[in-house]
Amino acid sequence: MSKANSSKNWIKGHVKDPFVIQAQKDGYRSRAAYKLIEIDKKYHIIKPGIKAVDLGAAPGGWSQVLSNKIGATGRVVAADLLEMPPIKNIDFIQGNFEEEKVLRDIQDKLKNLPVDLVISDMAPNISGIKMVDQQRAIYLNELALEFVKNNLKQNGFFLVKSFVGADFEKFLNELKLHFKKVFKIKPDSSRSRSSEIFLLGYEFQSKA
Ligand SMILES: C[S@@+](CC[C@H](N)C(=O)[O-])C[C@H]1O[C@@H](n2cnc3c(N)ncnc32)[C@H](O)[C@@H]1O
Repeated sequence: MSKANSSKNWIKGHVKDPFVIQAQKDGYRSRAAYKLIEIDKKYHIIKPGIKAVDLGAAPGGWSQVLSNKIGATGRVVAADLLEMPPIKNIDFIQGNFEEEKVLRDIQDKLKNLPVDLVISDMAPNISGIKMVDQQRAIYLNELALEFVKNNLKQNGFFLVKSFVGADFEKFLNELKLHFKKVFKIKPDSSRSRSSEIFLLGYEFQSKA
């Protein structure tokens, strides 16, 4: 299939996608919001008043879900390479999470205090070269885990989007060293043809 036909088919499928239609009705900026809603319904990771960090936040579906549930008494710092229009109760930092400065900016906004929850939906721009994309994805996972090790409270939660492929098992095993339990989750709203899978690190063991 030509590239033009394949992107036409993607757009057709996207417009008819029930989660895209629902997101428009509910006022969510992305269909991704339903992945977090579904995961939270089962695992109860978002509570009013908590402190949280949202990595790879744009266009803001997950941040909207956090904002609605955490409320004004909590604190959320979100970051992305891309711009993100403002969301109530969310402090946004635009920048590359791979850069030291962005890490410091996030920590400054948190006043260097540990958080209850870190969520990362970061995904690299797809180059089309499977091995390169997989490596980049796992690298972002590892960076997010490094952040978690330094900034998550004892018994806190870490939700991260990963991709099944090279080094996935290695990352999963590393995650298991730092949490009481790790759940592998494929939400209904995650497209079945996508190799994405969500890992939930449940109850961080800071002394591990
Ligand atoms: C799937 S989207 C996130 C969707 C978002 N969770 C939502 O609900 O709207 C992935 C995001 O990761 C961001 N991203 C990828 N690499 C990044 C990096 N190194 N630093 C910051 N953000 C990054 C992309 O810019 C993109 O906006």
